[in-house]
Amino acid sequence: SEGYAKTSKSFAERFPALVTGFFFFMWYFLNVIFNILNKKVYNYFPFVSVIHLVVGVAYCLVSWGVGLPKRAPIDKELLVLLTPVAFCHALGHVMSNVSFAAVAVSFTHTIKALEPFFNAAASQFVLGHQIPLSLWFSLAPVVIGVSMASLTELSFNWIGFISAMISNIAFTYRSIYSKKAMTGMDSTNVYAYISIIALLFCLPPAIFIEGPQLMQYGFRDAIAKVGLTKFLSDLFWIGMFYHLYNQLATNTLERVAPLTHAVGNVLKRVFVIGFSIIVFGNKISTQTGIGTAIAIAGVAIYSLIKANMEEQKRKAASSPAS
Ligand code: 3PG
Repeated sequence: SEGYAKTSKSFAERFPALVTGFFFFMWYFLNVIFNILNKKVYNYFPFVSVIHLVVGVAYCLVSWGVGLPKRAPIDKELLVLLTPVAFCHALGHVMSNVSFAAVAVSFTHTIKALEPFFNAAASQFVLGHQIPLSLWFSLAPVVIGVSMASLTELSFNWIGFISAMISNIAFTYRSIYSKKAMTGMDSTNVYAYISIIALLFCLPPAIFIEGPQLMQYGFRDAIAKVGLTKFLSDLFWIGMFYHLYNQLATNTLERVAPLTHAVGNVLKRVFVIGFSIIVFGNKISTQTGIGTAIAIAGVAIYSLIKANMEEQKRKAASSPAS
C-alpha cells in the first residue's frame, strides 16, 4: 500500500539535503585531519605518496572481501576508460605531495584553489567550449590573489609552486576523463578501481627512484626518530584518511552537480588553510593573507556566475519554442 511505501522510504530518501550535508562535512573533516597528520609525517618521513595508495588499496580489498561494498565486476571497456583517470589521479596526488613537503600546507592549498581556473581553460582550449569573456574576467581576482599570496609567502620556493601547478593540470584532466568514464557503477567501487590502477602507475617510479634511499636511511631514520609503533600507526592513519576523504569526495560528486562539487572543494581549502595555520602556528604575511582571501572570494564569484549561466542555458533549453 501507499502507507507502507511511505514508511519504507530510507532516511537518505526522506532527508536528501541532510545526507548530502553530512557527506560534505565528513569530506572536509577527513581532509583537514589528513592534511595536518600528513605534514607531521613529512617532517620525519618524506616518502608517503605510495603509502597512501597502498593503505587505500588494502582497505578496498578488505572491504570487498567482507562484501561492504560488494565488488562490481570490471570489464575491458571500463578498464580502458578508468586508466587515464587513474593516471591523472596518481600524477596529481604525487605532485600535491611534493608541494606539501616543500612549502607550507596553506600555500599549497592556495595554489590549488586555482583549479577552477584550469578547468575553465581546459573547457575552452581542450574541449573547445566557448567560455564567455565575463567568466574569464571573473577569474582575474583569483589569479591576482594567488600572485599576491605567492610573492610574500614566507615558505615560497619554486618546487612547491610548480608541483602544485602541475597537480592542478593533472586534476583538471582527471575531471575531463572522469566525465567520459561516467558509468552505471557506484562511486565507491569506481574509486576503489581508480586507487588500484593509480597504485600500479606509482609503484615502478617509487621503487626505482625512492627505493634505494628508503632502504638506505628512510625507514631507519624514521624509526629512530619516533619509534616503530608510532611510525607504523602514522602511516596507517595517513593512508586511511587519504583514502576515506577521497572516497567521500567521490560519493559527494555522485549526489551533487560538478560545479557544486568544485565550489565545495574550494571551501574545503578555506578550512584546511585556516586549521593548518592554527595547528602549525605558521606565520603568514598580511599580503599573503589578503591575497589568499581575494583568491578564494574570486573563486566563489566565478562559481556563482558560472552557476547562473548554466541555469539560464537550462531554462533556454527547456522553454517551449515560440
Ligand atoms: C593528494 O594527496 O592527492 C592531495 O591531498 C590532493 O589534494 P585535494 O584532494 O585537496 O586536491
